[in-house]
Amino acid sequence: MMPDAPLAAATAILGVKPLTHAFVAEITGLDLTRPLASETVAALERAFLAHPVLVFRDQKLARADQVRFSRYFGDLDVSVNRQYHGDDFPEIHTVSNLDADGRPLPFEKLANPGNYLWHTDGSYQKRPPRASLLYGVEIPKAGGVTSFASLHDAHESLDAAQRERIAGLKLVHSWVQSRLNSGSRPPTEEEIRNSPPVTHPLVRTHPETGRKALYMGIHGSHIEDMASEESTALLAMLVEHATREEVVYNHHWRAGDLVMTDNRCVLHRGAPDYGGAAEPRILHRTVVSGDAPF
Ligand SMILES: [Fe+2]
Repeated sequence: MMPDAPLAAATAILGVKPLTHAFVAEITGLDLTRPLASETVAALERAFLAHPVLVFRDQKLARADQVRFSRYFGDLDVSVNRQYHGDDFPEIHTVSNLDADGRPLPFEKLANPGNYLWHTDGSYQKRPPRASLLYGVEIPKAGGVTSFASLHDAHESLDAAQRERIAGLKLVHSWVQSRLNSGSRPPTEEEIRNSPPVTHPLVRTHPETGRKALYMGIHGSHIEDMASEESTALLAMLVEHATREEVVYNHHWRAGDLVMTDNRCVLHRGAPDYGGAAEPRILHRTVVSGDAPF
């Protein structure tokens, strides 16, 4: 067997083009319908640590392709909610604005309005996912931008007094509270039993880079051991700081885009303004398992 090529060679063939914000890069030169060499995956892993939002354009991914590519980055989570499952790949979660008959729904009837508020996927879990990969299958002609903000930059751009104030604080994340806050369908008794609140550090350390990140969003319910009003005001200030217009990357979707996000250090939200809900919008999401934040 041939020895693995040096990593530098793989980097040379992989284009890594930072976009308007340094935490986002477009990867060029890869056809993700094909299996990747281990050195290419290693180069992608390095790019992912340097740029926690990676964009791949002009792909033509079948479900199997997305699942195979996602698995290069770890085990995949399977949604517990059967309504999102495709028939063949339970790892694929379909995000769409369609009803059961395939007709676009108005915004107020969409299943998860929380997707349109700043969040990091699964932060209400004990072991939130490492990464989410979202692939554009059908995209309306206008609107439907997904916005991203770096939680490393958010932490680093606080002043010293603010960083000192929040050091050591713990944030309670609650799927149930998040659904209530965002006006989603109220959770069932069973869902409430299966989704107890969890507590994570408000400032988490990225397990691979050691960088600190503000870890919060719509799933964050309250700061542990802090008066309710103070906690609400502090969280609102931090989210506002993290998502200032000038630091936000807006992704304008095209069919064939795959966007891979490091959930440990990036906030995101969708914009529910596509085509006046008259056009279908279908995305396929896969989620890579992660570890408990520290
Ligand atoms: Fe999300």
